[in-house]
Amino acid sequence: PRSVILDMDPGIDDAAAIAVALNNPELDVKLITTVAGNVSVDKTTANALKLVDFFDKKVSVAKGAAAPLKKKFEDAAAIHGETGLPGYTFPEPKSVISDLTAVEAIAHVLKQNEQQITLIATGAYTNIAHFILKYPEMLSKIDELILMGGSISGGNASSVAEFNIFTDPDAAKIVFESGLNITMIGLDVTLKALISKQTSDKLAELGEAGKMLHGIINAYGDIHEGGKPMHDVITILYALHPEVIKLQKEYIDVVTEGPAIGATVADVLHRWHAAEAYNAKVGVDIDAAFFNDWFLNQVRLMNRR
Ligand code: BDR
Ligand code: CA
Repeated sequence: PRSVILDMDPGIDDAAAIAVALNNPELDVKLITTVAGNVSVDKTTANALKLVDFFDKKVSVAKGAAAPLKKKFEDAAAIHGETGLPGYTFPEPKSVISDLTAVEAIAHVLKQNEQQITLIATGAYTNIAHFILKYPEMLSKIDELILMGGSISGGNASSVAEFNIFTDPDAAKIVFESGLNITMIGLDVTLKALISKQTSDKLAELGEAGKMLHGIINAYGDIHEGGKPMHDVITILYALHPEVIKLQKEYIDVVTEGPAIGATVADVLHRWHAAEAYNAKVGVDIDAAFFNDWFLNQVRLMNRR
């Protein structure tokens, strides 16, 4: 299996991504770290613990940054609900958070593991930026950083900015300039793979895990014509089946101030960077029907004990 660390702000689509990652035998989730984003970091941490307990897994959860590097924190409770995980009643979590902070826990796991690890980040990149600044010598232990975030075709937090980048643009800038092997799964691809109503209706029949996902997805406020985007889940699909997402090499600059704050600008005309230069592979296309079938099959793997 591929060893991964998940850095997230659950959040409904983050929760669905955690559910898939914890139950697919091809992934070995070494750690979950949390960050402020969709809701406060205390709430995203509680939600991560609820999911680990729901699936009866022993995966450590470490709490990360409560606020962006510089920008004022603004949540997305309007879309993800006040708790960040509405639509299903979870028991109070029994698992407890790690004694380590998110950054220390990531360093600890990377040190312990002989092989390289894939980092998957689906919230603001505040923890990742702190990690890059504190442990530059450890970046070679990360084979790939798979990000949900950004867009080269218009935003959702503003007309040009995607929410995760908009939440902490200064962190995103550090991440894109870090030299890490970055795959950017942004709105360009996530909005092409909506979960249809037909798919979400089917979830209700797929055991307790299906009921849980059906409940939270029904309560999710990110509504588009044709269905709901499961943005963060696409990072997990990509980690397992990179061949199903079409990628384009781009040099991405992050705007950190002004009305375009949070925009990820791809230098497609090579005005600012050499034609061969790129700092990210950007997802641009996906087969939505495949994603819907795959997602249902993932839920079938989630046998709750
Ligand atoms: C991203 O923003 C969050 O609200 C979602 O969880 C996802 O990570 C989509 O723009
Ligand atoms: Ca998220």
